[in-house]
Amino acid sequence: MSSITIDGHRIDVLFTESQIAARIKGLAEEIALTKPRRLLVVPVLKGSFIFAADLIRAMHHAGLSPEVDFMILASYRAATTSSGKVDVLRDIEAVVQDRDVLLVDDILESGRTLAYAKNLLAERGAASVKSAVLLYKPGHLVASIRADFCAFDCPDLFVVGYGMDMAHQFRELPFVGNVVK
Ligand code: IMP
Ligand code: MG
Repeated sequence: MSSITIDGHRIDVLFTESQIAARIKGLAEEIALTKPRRLLVVPVLKGSFIFAADLIRAMHHAGLSPEVDFMILASYRAATTSSGKVDVLRDIEAVVQDRDVLLVDDILESGRTLAYAKNLLAERGAASVKSAVLLYKPGHLVASIRADFCAFDCPDLFVVGYGMDMAHQFRELPFVGNVVK
C-alpha cells in the first residue's frame, strides 16, 4: 500500500485515482441504463464536490444530459438527540415536481443525511429520488435508505481526499486515503 505524509500526517492510499475513475465510468453507465427522465442531479455538499464533478462528466459520456443543482446539509450526530438532526444550509432552486432526482454524496454511513434529503425532495413531488455515493461504510446504517449506486464499500476507517476532509484539510488529494497519524 502506498502512503504519503502531509504536514506530519501519514495518509495510506485506499482507492487510487485510476480505480476511482474506472468505477465512476461504470456507475455512469449503470445510471444511464435506468433511463432517467428529466434528470436532476443534486450533489450534497461539501464532501461530494469532486465525486459529483467527475460523475456528471462521465454521465455526459454515457449519453445523459442532466440538470445540476446543489444542496448543503449539516448533520449533527446523535450526541444530543436520539435521531440526529439535519439542517439545510443551502437548498436547491430547481423545481423537482415529476422529475427523476439523483442525490450524490461522498459517504453513506448512518444514512441520516441522505434519508433527510430524499424525504425532502420526495415530499416536493419528485417522480423518483435515487442516490449515488462514492463510499458505503457498512454496519452503521440507522436510517432506512440504501445507495442505489455505490462506487466502493469502504473499510471502517476515517477517510479523506477526493473532496473529503479532516477539518477542511486534504480535500485536494486525487485519491481516497486513511489518515493513520
Ligand atoms: P451519515 O450517512 O448521515 O452518517 O453521514 C455521512 C457523512 O459523514 C458523509 O457524507 C461525510 O460528510 C461524513 N463522514 C462520515 N465518515 C467520514 C470519513 O471517514 N471522513 C470524512 N467524512 C466522513
Ligand atoms: Mg457529506
